[in-house]
Amino acid sequence: MRVAGKEMRTIWPSPDRRAVLAIDQRALPGRLEIARLEGVEAVAHAIRDMLVRGAPLIGVAAAYGLALAAARDPSDAALDAARALLGATRPTAVNLRWALDRVGAALANVPPVRRAEAAFAEADAIAEDDVRMCRQIGEHALPLLRARKGEGPLRVMTHCNAGWLATVDWGTALAPVYLLHRAGVEVHVWVSETRPRNQGHLTAWELAGEGVPHTLIVDNAAGHLIARGEVDAVIVGSDRTTAAGDVANKVGTYLKALAARAHGVPFYVALPSSSIDFRVTRGAEIPIEQRDGREVGAGVGVAVQNPAFDVTPAHLVSALITERGVCAASAEGLAALFGRAA
Ligand code: MRU
Repeated sequence: MRVAGKEMRTIWPSPDRRAVLAIDQRALPGRLEIARLEGVEAVAHAIRDMLVRGAPLIGVAAAYGLALAAARDPSDAALDAARALLGATRPTAVNLRWALDRVGAALANVPPVRRAEAAFAEADAIAEDDVRMCRQIGEHALPLLRARKGEGPLRVMTHCNAGWLATVDWGTALAPVYLLHRAGVEVHVWVSETRPRNQGHLTAWELAGEGVPHTLIVDNAAGHLIARGEVDAVIVGSDRTTAAGDVANKVGTYLKALAARAHGVPFYVALPSSSIDFRVTRGAEIPIEQRDGREVGAGVGVAVQNPAFDVTPAHLVSALITERGVCAASAEGLAALFGRAA
């Protein structure tokens, strides 16, 4: 998507394949900085420290991390260690495991001497698939969102950052917003700040880059706006969705789903299939990342609990929007699209 009029992605390999380059999201929205990650340790640190973040992007970054590891030492032992290092960086987004498994499968039966090349090729394919899936999500969401538009602009509420910064390009929840805007449909986005890391500021930054009208709100204003009839649809992303349609996403998502249900506003979840964990059916089984209490900014000695995600039960989700189309948030809905059950 566009930054100061220039097309950009969040991550790409250096031309000599000795490093991976990525937007350093810790510096946004203040400064656009590109980080050069020169080895698997640097990539693991980048994921853990949220230099790169967002479920799909975490997966792509991990895939490139494994490719860098293969370039340095393609032995089974080194690659197992690299997978373990990357796999332990963040617990909730299942895209991480999905991407590592995919690169691992691509390397099975490949002799060590050719593993780096094969791993980079697979990481490139994962990145390209991510772009395609996000664009398809956007297209499938269009009719749902268009149907909610009244006289004025379509008023969409989102949470956290499920835009292009959370993926390679386009984003999940924001992909249809960009498509609508480019098609000339009037759209306005309520951007919830998303305490404690303020990923909403990233959302505001990228919407500004594309010229999409938006307004930043504190998280606690969401219920008020929904109750006042100022929201036509809520759309969020997902870090892990179970085979039965329960959705883990950034903490605060659940409260928006409750408010949306109470006031008859549709609550949509946009996600690529790489965010579906077909091994898990109950949301309670999803590991929820607990982050450092210092992020919350409390004074010394104050007890803090800082869960990074929450789970919205399937019955509060109006529909799941995937690259294969729209389905009910249920085992049957997902099985109809993906042909597999948990
Ligand atoms: O902790 P983060 O910033 O990695 O969390 C990101 C989210 O929760 C996004 O909403 C999620 O990944 C949606 S996917 C584009």
